[in-house]
Amino acid sequence: MSAVEYSKGLDGVIAAESKICDIDGDLGLLSYRGYTIEDLADNSTFAEVAWLLLYGSLPTAAELEGFENILKSKRTIDASLLGVLSSLPKSTHPMIAIQTAIAAHGSLSPVASGRNQANFDRALELIARFPTIVAAWHRISKGLAPLDPRSDLGHGQNFLYMVTGEVPSDERGRIFDVCLILHMEHSFNASTFTGRVVASTMAPMDASVSAAVGALYGPLHGGANEGALHMLAEVSSVEDGTRYVLSELGAKRKIFGMGHRVYKAKDPRSYVLEKYLAQVAATNDPKQHYAKLKTIETAMRAEMEKTGKKIYPNVDFFSGALYELLGIEISLFTPIFAVARVAGWCAHILEQWEDNRIFRPECLYSGDSGKKWVPVSER
Ligand SMILES: CC(C)(COP(=O)(O)OP(=O)(O)OC[C@H]1O[C@@H](n2cnc3c(N)ncnc32)[C@H](O)[C@@H]1OP(=O)(O)O)[C@@H](O)C(=O)NCCC(=O)NCCS
Repeated sequence: MSAVEYSKGLDGVIAAESKICDIDGDLGLLSYRGYTIEDLADNSTFAEVAWLLLYGSLPTAAELEGFENILKSKRTIDASLLGVLSSLPKSTHPMIAIQTAIAAHGSLSPVASGRNQANFDRALELIARFPTIVAAWHRISKGLAPLDPRSDLGHGQNFLYMVTGEVPSDERGRIFDVCLILHMEHSFNASTFTGRVVASTMAPMDASVSAAVGALYGPLHGGANEGALHMLAEVSSVEDGTRYVLSELGAKRKIFGMGHRVYKAKDPRSYVLEKYLAQVAATNDPKQHYAKLKTIETAMRAEMEKTGKKIYPNVDFFSGALYELLGIEISLFTPIFAVARVAGWCAHILEQWEDNRIFRPECLYSGDSGKKWVPVSER
């Protein structure tokens, strides 16, 4: 019998100590290694935040330059990985294809588990190659040839280039980098916890990261921004947003991109995404995504005021619309989440190995007991 109280879904359970990410769900605050997400989104690059997550402090100018160069030099993936991706049926879900490629990546040059230089190097390889794998699968699944990464482009810009074959403007590249920064880390979410659990068995980093990809696949974790975009297709006009909210709530259905297990205030990442969505939508929003979302948010707030429920926009509420306006296809939404989150996963796996103890919770047994075996002829 456990001395710890049972909590379904581990809600409220502290499973480990971490110095990487802090969330105050009541106040709606998020910080990576002590820096607020707003500060990082406004001022940092993807590479700088990746360094911060992995090493714990902001890099010097020389460290950042060296790190960016290493990331650029490691972008190319082995031909055998392209072979693995090409061998999958084109109908394979992108997250399955990515999980397969990451697991296969571990077979190319295996590294023993543990917080050592080889695994810091492996983390850089995974962060650098993740966009190449995602973009390669996107093109292979469409019958197109994958594009080689370009070392003259920034992290986000190069990813968008490898997907579309066109170099995005600096403004689009910067907005996409901000989207990645917002998704890089979020404490003990399901995929990060999964990665740490697998790493705690001293399985290799690639195996741990591929397990995390599997956890992110699920619609309760990685797929909600797709739902938010589908929702907009059901709202016929800006005014129709109110009808939509009332009708969904009346039918006891959830509004996508709203609510969060931890945040009981508006998700701080949604403010940043809204700022950029408003900026892009000001010149190009043919389907009035932004105005529709604002109507839905206002109608939802009015309804939630009546019930006292603390349901506010989460990170997925504005991101799907912003991605669409940036020209990104819906099938890439969850993979993009992984392109960003791989940095957080690697930081957590390395932290787990700093003071490892295998995760082994208990369960509350609720089955039968004391039964006697009977021969099959008597059953
Ligand atoms: C994120 C989510 C899974 C959190 O789940 P949770 O912490 O277990 O919260 P619950 O689902 O128990 O919700 C608590 C109450 O708020 C309501 N609620 C939660 N999210 C809601 C939403 N998006 N729309 C309408 N009502 C919602 C629930 O119906 C429930 O009401 P009840 O107490 O009358 O039954 C949930 O809010 C959700 O499904 N949101 C939509 C999907 C989404 O955007 N996911 C991305 C998360 S980043």
